[in-house]
Amino acid sequence: MVIDNLTIKKTLTTSSRLTEVNFTDLPFGKVFTDHMFVADYENGQWTNLQILPYGPMEMSPAISALHYGQAIFEGMKAYRLPNGEVSVFRGDKNFERFNISADRMSMPVVPEEIFMQGIAELINVDKNWVPNQEGYSLYLRPVMFATDAALGVKASDTYKFVVLATPTGPYYTKALKVKIETRYTRASEGGVGYAKTAGNYASSLYPFAQAQKEGFDQIIWTDSKEHKYVEESGAANLMFVIDGKIVTPATGETILNGVTRNTIIILAKQMGYEIEERRVEVAEVVAAAQKGTLTEAFAVGTAATVTQIGAIGYQDQLYTLTDVSHRTISVGIAKRLNDIRYGLVPDEMGWNWVV
Ligand code: PLP
Ligand code: COI
Repeated sequence: MVIDNLTIKKTLTTSSRLTEVNFTDLPFGKVFTDHMFVADYENGQWTNLQILPYGPMEMSPAISALHYGQAIFEGMKAYRLPNGEVSVFRGDKNFERFNISADRMSMPVVPEEIFMQGIAELINVDKNWVPNQEGYSLYLRPVMFATDAALGVKASDTYKFVVLATPTGPYYTKALKVKIETRYTRASEGGVGYAKTAGNYASSLYPFAQAQKEGFDQIIWTDSKEHKYVEESGAANLMFVIDGKIVTPATGETILNGVTRNTIIILAKQMGYEIEERRVEVAEVVAAAQKGTLTEAFAVGTAATVTQIGAIGYQDQLYTLTDVSHRTISVGIAKRLNDIRYGLVPDEMGWNWVV
């Protein structure tokens, strides 16, 4: 996967911030490593590949990303292996999805060698920033945004591709109280729900704030037409255990096709669990919660990893779910996933990319 004929110019910092960082207190995405990878797209090609000290970038206030939202991103994690090496988990899947998002947002493809080699070089220069405690990792954030300084509504001709890295612990630290959303919509058919594009997150902020006022930690989005089917959560896909079977909404145009979701589907099958990918009715989840046959519910994503759902709110009712200590399926799968990512068991699927 590593290509060595790319020229990446390196300008390294003269004053590392590494010793100032408290690695036992790492709120998600607030502390950035010493460097970043940057590339520019102009005249139809990617140029100016660089590792630079992390810091502000000068830009026109007219850039079209700010006005019309041509911006996409990815989220992936690098883990410290027992032998000290660093491995990125399933980065090829993030690369694929990045370009699916790019296509939908009329942005140029980032070639695999630039995406991968940019990440590899960044990790190499900031290797000492990769945490080594369990539950911690180096979160990588590739982002591409439109940089034409022009106010006409059209696809930009120029872009920047940047990779940031931030050492981090778990995004959520407790079981979540989630609200099944029946008023607002995250995505609709023909829209951009399957793309990891900035506006999807911007439009979620208001409904999320409303839910927070009602005491919820997160939203479960439902389909835009009838609010009848469960889709996904704010920053993760969803899984339920109903009658001993794992059930997860099938992905499509309105749901982000999560790498963690895909990984867990494969692991669950290997571990002998039955797993169904299909439309999941809100009514089915609520009825199972009422009957006590909804024994587990959890959100799965790169930042979220496997986050337990403790209670589900729907139409003024709150359904409290089985205590996490009884959730053998999701807890077992989460352990297997972590063991692979941290290199504690053989990587039979070839998911760990050692950089
Ligand atoms: N859905 C949304 C909206 C997300 O932001 C994320 C996070 O990336 C996911 C699902 C989970 O995807 P992945 O497992 O690839 O991180
Ligand atoms: C991720 O899991 O990588 C995400 O993108 C979630 C993020 C929006 C916090």
